[in-house]
Amino acid sequence: MDSPAIPVMRPRLPDADALLPYLRRIDQTRVYSNMGPLARQLADILGAHFHCPAHPLANATLGLAIALMAMGPPAGSLCMVPSWTFAASAHAIILAGMVPFLVDVDEASGMLVPEMAADFLPRAPGHVGAIMPVSAFGHPVDIAGWQDFRARHGLAVVVDAAAGFDTAQGGDLPVVISLHATKVLGAGEGAFILCRDTDLLHRCATTSNFGFSADRQASMAGMNAKLSEYHAAVALAAIERWPQDRGHIMALTRKLAETLPQTAGWRGEVTRAFAANTLNLEFPSGWQAAEARFAAAAIETRRWWGGGLHRHPAFRHCPHLPMPETDRRADLTLGLPFHGDLDGVALRRIADVARACLDDQP
Ligand SMILES: Cc1ncc(COP(=O)(O)O)c(C=O)c1O
Repeated sequence: MDSPAIPVMRPRLPDADALLPYLRRIDQTRVYSNMGPLARQLADILGAHFHCPAHPLANATLGLAIALMAMGPPAGSLCMVPSWTFAASAHAIILAGMVPFLVDVDEASGMLVPEMAADFLPRAPGHVGAIMPVSAFGHPVDIAGWQDFRARHGLAVVVDAAAGFDTAQGGDLPVVISLHATKVLGAGEGAFILCRDTDLLHRCATTSNFGFSADRQASMAGMNAKLSEYHAAVALAAIERWPQDRGHIMALTRKLAETLPQTAGWRGEVTRAFAANTLNLEFPSGWQAAEARFAAAAIETRRWWGGGLHRHPAFRHCPHLPMPETDRRADLTLGLPFHGDLDGVALRRIADVARACLDDQP
C-alpha cells in the first residue's frame, strides 16, 4: 500500500467549542469591528505577554505598510529590505509609497543585520528613508542593535517579525507580527504591532482607522486595516491554549533533533530553541533535486520565500545590490513538513528522504 501523502503544513486553529464563549460575547455586544471589546482585550493580553504596548490589525502586510506610513519617511524614498524574505515585505513598502531597495543577508543568520545595513547605506542609488529588517522564519531579531542603528542614522526602522510570535521583543521601533493561520499562533487572518513608543503606536492605530482623529476627521493618510471582533475571538481562544500549543511544537522540535541528521548546516535549524511554524533546510545538491526526491515519496515541500524578492517579476525593477548569500540560500533551501500532525512514522519518512538527499552529489 502507498504511504499517505504528508502535507507541508496543517494548521489547527481553535475549534468551534473554544470559540463559542467569544462568539456569544459578540452576539451580546453587537460590536463587530472598530476596536471592539474583544480587540481591546486582545491588545491588553498581548501587551502583558510581550511587556510592551500592542495594537491588533487585520494582517501583517498592512501592518508593515501602516508602521512605515506612521513613521513618515519621505514619499518615494528607498526602504532597504533584505531580498531573502516573503513577497509581503516588499508589497508593504510599495503600499507605503516607498521603493524597495533590495539587499543581501548575513551568512550566519540569513537576516539583514545593523552592521550590514550601515555598509549598504552609502551604496544606495537614492535617498534611503527607512529600513525593514526581517525575522527569518521566526529567528530572533536584534532589536537593541536596530534601536542603536536608528539612533545613529536617524532612519525609520520597521521590523517584519511576521513569523516571530515566539521570539518577538518589544522596543521603541514598531515590530509587526502576523496571526495568519499558518503562523505558530494563528487567528485565520490578523496581526499586531508591538511598540513602546505609545505616540507612534497611536499613529499606527490611527493610520489603520482611515487616519481618523477623535472627531472622525481624516487627520492623516490612512486605510482600513482593523481587526474584526471575529478574528479577535479566534486570536483570544488561540492565546488561551498557547502554553500547550507551544509545548507541542517544542516537543516536535526535539523529535526532529533526534530523527534528522544534525549536519553542520542543519544543526541550528533542527535544534532551535523557539517555536516556529516551518522547517527550512539547505540541500547541498540544490532544492530541485530535493524537491523531486520528496515528491516521489509523497511528501509535500514548499519554497516559502522562492528565489528572493529580486527574482519575483513584481520586484525585478527594484534597485538592488549584489546578493550572493540570498542567491545561495534561494538555490539550496527547501521547506519540509513541520506541524502537529506529524507522528513518529511521518518524521522517520521525512528523515529518510532528507538523508538520501544529503548523499546526492552537488
Ligand atoms: C516575512 C513575512 N512578512 C510578512 C508576511 C505577511 O503576513 P500576513 O499574511 O499577516 O499579511 C509574511 C507572511 O507569511 C511573512 O512571512
